[in-house]
Amino acid sequence: MTAKREDAAWRVRVLTLYPEMFPGPLALALAGRALARGLWALETVDIRDFARDKHRTVDDAPFGGGAGMVMRPDVVDAAIASATAPDLGGPLIYLTPRGRPLTQARVAEFAQGPGAVILCGRFEGVDERVVAARGLDEVSLGDFVLSGGEPAAIALIDACVRLLPGVVGRRESLDDESFVGGLLEYPQYTRPRRWRGRRVPEVLLSGDHGHVAEWRQARAEEATRERRPDLWAAYAERASAQDRADACAARSGHAPGTGRGDHKRRRSV
Ligand SMILES: C[S@@+](CC[C@H](N)C(=O)[O-])C[C@H]1O[C@@H](n2cnc3c(N)ncnc32)[C@H](O)[C@@H]1O
Repeated sequence: MTAKREDAAWRVRVLTLYPEMFPGPLALALAGRALARGLWALETVDIRDFARDKHRTVDDAPFGGGAGMVMRPDVVDAAIASATAPDLGGPLIYLTPRGRPLTQARVAEFAQGPGAVILCGRFEGVDERVVAARGLDEVSLGDFVLSGGEPAAIALIDACVRLLPGVVGRRESLDDESFVGGLLEYPQYTRPRRWRGRRVPEVLLSGDHGHVAEWRQARAEEATRERRPDLWAAYAERASAQDRADACAARSGHAPGTGRGDHKRRRSV
C-alpha cells in the first residue's frame, strides 16, 4: 500500500503486479502536491499476494493455444474482492486496449465520483470470465498496445486528479481547454514576442478581448476540422441541433439559449 490517506476526498485503488510503479510520477508536480495535501489518496493492491501456490503464480497458458500468458480469473478475482472491500462506491475499471476509448467526458465523470478501483493487466490480459463476472468497466487509453496497464492507470489518475476541487488554482483554466467544448484548444503563445523570426499573432497583442476570443474560436475550429474529423462531425451536429432549437425558441417567443455547454466558443462552420 502507498500514500494512504483515509480522509481524502477522492480515493483510488490500483490492482497491479508492479505496486512499486506507484505513485511514480503521480508523486510529483500538480498531482503530487494534491496527494501531499490529502485532496486524493492512492492505494495499491499487489495481485501476486492473491496467488494460490508457493511460486505465487498469477498467469497460465491460453486455452486454444497461441503465444503469451493470461492472468488467472481466480487470482484476479480474489485481488478484486480485497480491493473492493470496503466499497469505494466508484467504478471498477479494467484498463485494456479492448475497452471503450477514454474521453475527457468520462474522466470528468470519474473525477466527480468518490474514486475508482483500477485493474492493470499484464501479459495477454485477464481471463474474460472475471471481466464478465465482476462487470468490469473496460477502458482503453487509445489505439495502441502498452506492455501493461500501469502507465495507463497513471495517465487516467492524472487526468482525474487535475479536475478535483482545489487541485488547479484557477478552475476557469479547466473550462477552456481541449475537448471541453467539443473542440481542440487554440494555439498558445508567450514571450518573447519574436522568436527565430516568428511573431506572435498580432491580434493577441491587441488588448481587444472580443477579437482575441473570435480568433481563438476560429483557430480551435480549424485545428479540430483538420486534425480530428470525428470530433468536428460531432461538434457540427450538436451546433446545428442547437441552431434549430434556437430558431424554434425564437419563433415561439422564448429567449434562445446557448445550450452547447460552450458559451465562449461560437461556431463558424
Ligand atoms: C500487452 S497488453 C495486452 C494486449 C492484449 N493482448 C490485446 O491485444 O488487446 C497488457 C496489458 O496492458 C494494458 N494495456 C495495453 N494497452 C492498453 C491501452 N491502449 N489502454 C489501456 N490499457 C492497455 C492492459 O491492461 C493489458 O491487459
